[in-house]
Order: sequence, then structure tokens, then C-alpha cells
Amino acid sequence: MQALVYNGPGLKNLEDRPKPIVQEPTDAVIRITKTTICGTDLHILKGDVATCQPGTVLGHEGVGIVDAVGSGVATFKPGDRVLISCITACGRCDPCRKRMYSHCTTGGWILGHRIDGTQAEYVRIPYADTSLYPIPQGADEEALVMLSDILPTGFECGVLNGKIEPGSSVAIVGAGPIGLAALLTAQFYSPAEIIMIDLDDNRLAVGKRFGATATVNSADGNAAQQVMKLTDGRGVDTAIEAVGIPATFTLCEDIVAPGGTIANVGVHGIKVDLHLERLWSHNVTITTGLVDTFSIPMLLNTVRSQRIDAKQLITHRFKLGEILQAYDTFGRAADTKALKVIIEA
Ligand SMILES: NC(=O)c1ccc[n+]([C@@H]2O[C@H](COP(=O)([O-])OP(=O)(O)OC[C@H]3O[C@@H](n4cnc5c(N)ncnc54)[C@H](O)[C@@H]3O)[C@@H](O)[C@H]2O)c1
Ligand SMILES: [Zn+2]
Ligand SMILES: [Zn+2]
Repeated sequence: MQALVYNGPGLKNLEDRPKPIVQEPTDAVIRITKTTICGTDLHILKGDVATCQPGTVLGHEGVGIVDAVGSGVATFKPGDRVLISCITACGRCDPCRKRMYSHCTTGGWILGHRIDGTQAEYVRIPYADTSLYPIPQGADEEALVMLSDILPTGFECGVLNGKIEPGSSVAIVGAGPIGLAALLTAQFYSPAEIIMIDLDDNRLAVGKRFGATATVNSADGNAAQQVMKLTDGRGVDTAIEAVGIPATFTLCEDIVAPGGTIANVGVHGIKVDLHLERLWSHNVTITTGLVDTFSIPMLLNTVRSQRIDAKQLITHRFKLGEILQAYDTFGRAADTKALKVIIEA
């Protein structure tokens, strides 16, 4: 079968690989119908993720059809259409029993990282019963690809951790797919203001279309002042960090109102400054987290009932044979205006 293989920093290839087989009774093998590329795949290719060994098939998002199941799989059978979670969960260990699937002692984020992933014709999914979700009849599969990772991440790590409430004020720093997923799902709670902050005017325009009440381009270094002006000097109740660099975390510290929450979503590679000399008296909460994907069933209902239009995030479509071109388009988002690219296997 064809598969996109990580061969070390800067190196990837579309290769011919043996089709995966059931190895454990709890495994399923899925024939991928649609997958996508995540910013995290680009991090791996830059060499930022040392735990990903050369030779690994990339990809942790997608939908497909069950091809084979182990003897211990009770929920799924060959022919079933399924959504693949980016997080593999045994469902039994202590973290799983606390709904912290990302910390599953034998699972977590392993797909396209520690084991072969979804950017291939077939993928082996461990703990199939608790890591796959059935796709309801008639559901739009392209839209559902957004549920493997980005919508749960924006919702769980941004919106839920950020405690967004009706009438509250929100700023989302970073208008990439994750920040935009937070923007779409924040609107479940009817906040009064959602300010989108980014350096890229195209992404800010998308944010406006997706429901942001205001946008701020932070390129001039005055984003904090602009947010303060937009909130009559109060700051925001929730500041969501969806970039993953020190400057954007600092910006969240600068704009969070007393009593507010900074919900960090971004993956940080280096330390950031915590300004307790200013924040010690401000009753501020800071949250962190890796997505658990416990919200997939709920989000699936909201996509099906068109409470959110997940398909808006899709900008480009490719065949698996064109995946190198898809990576190029996704990797040059500022030029190509790419958000999520769909790859049809
Ligand atoms: N916590 C989790 O479980 C989890 C899961 C998935 C992704 N992530 C992380 O979320 C972050 C966002 O992911 P994404 O796919 O949307 O990434 P992305 O790179 O597509 O988007 C980041 C956005 O930030 C903007 N940006 C960069 N520097 C900026 C600055 N100084 N000020 C304002 N905006 C700036 C960019 O223009 C871009 O639009 C990444 O760090 C990613 O690794 C976290
Ligand atoms: Zn991802
Ligand atoms: Zn577990």
C-alpha cells in the first residue's frame, strides 16, 4: 500500500509499505478513505518531536472503513464506517478512567508518532473499541475528519478549559486551524465578544467570517493595547493561546482580566515567562492540556445538526498519490491560504 513515511528531519517520502495486520485481539485495521495533515506533522518533519522514529508513517486524523478486527473487538465489524481519534485509549488504566485519554499508559498520542499513522491506504488502530467512533448514516465524512483532532482540541483545551460563559469576553491568539476550531466551538456558549489575534490578515478575515466580533493584527506589537481598547480597559475573561511561542503566551498574560483564565493550547518548545509580579493579585487561572478527545461524540452531533460548519475549515483537496504536493501547499499556508487539506486515499 502507499504510505507517507517520515525518514528523519526534513525527509519524507510516499513509499510502498506492507498492509498492516491485526496484531492484538483489541486491534482493528481500517481502510482510510479520507485523512489530513496537521501542524504537528510539520513539527515532526522539522525534527521537533524526538520520540517519532524515522520510518514511521505520519498522520493521526482520518475516517475510513473497518477492514479487519481482532477477536476482542466488540463494537465494530468489517464494513463499518468509522472516525479515528488522534488519541488511542485503552479505556481501563487510571488516566483513562479519569477521562484523561491523552495520558493513557499504553496509548495516548501514538498514531503517526510512536506507531504508523493514517496517511496511508490502511492503518492499524489499537484498542479499537475505545479509539474509534461509528459514523452515522448520511454524515459528511469530510467534515468529520475535522473531529479527529482539531475540533476537540480547540473545544477541550481552549473553550472548556477557558470556562467561556454567556456574555463573557474572549481573545484567541492564533487563527490557525486550532484557533479557528476554538472560535467555532466557543460560540456554543454565546460569549459577547470574541477577538481573534494573528499576524496573517487572510486568517483574520477567515476568523471574521467564522464569527469573531473583532480582529487584531499583532504584527505591530500593539495587540495588548488594542485588546484593552476593545474591552474598555478591562481585558478579556478568557485568553486562549493557540500558537505555542513565548510572545503569544505573554500577550495572554497582558490581556487577561482579573478573575480570568488563560487557556494554553499551543505546544511550547521553549520556556515562557510567568509574570507573577503583575498577576499574583489578579485571581487568574492558567490551564494546560493535551487533547483527550472525550468530546468527539458531542461534537459529532453538533456537526451533524449543522450547529457548526466544520467543512469551512477545508481549503484544498488532494489524492493520496499527491500527498507531497499537499504537504507543500499546507506548509506554505501564508501564500496558499491553506487551512485544512483533505487527502483522499
Ligand atoms: N494541546 C493540544 O492538545 C494540541 C493539539 C493540537 C495542536 N496543538 C498546538 O496548537 C497550536 C496551533 O495549531 P495550528 O495547527 O492552528 O497551528 P498553525 O501554525 O496553523 O497556526 C498558528 C497561527 O499562529 C499565528 N502566529 C504565529 N506567530 C504569531 C504571533 N506572534 N502573534 C499572533 N499570531 C501568531 C500564525 O500566523 C498562525 O495562523 C500549535 O502549537 C499546535 O502544535 C496543541
Ligand atoms: Zn494534530
Ligand atoms: Zn488507558
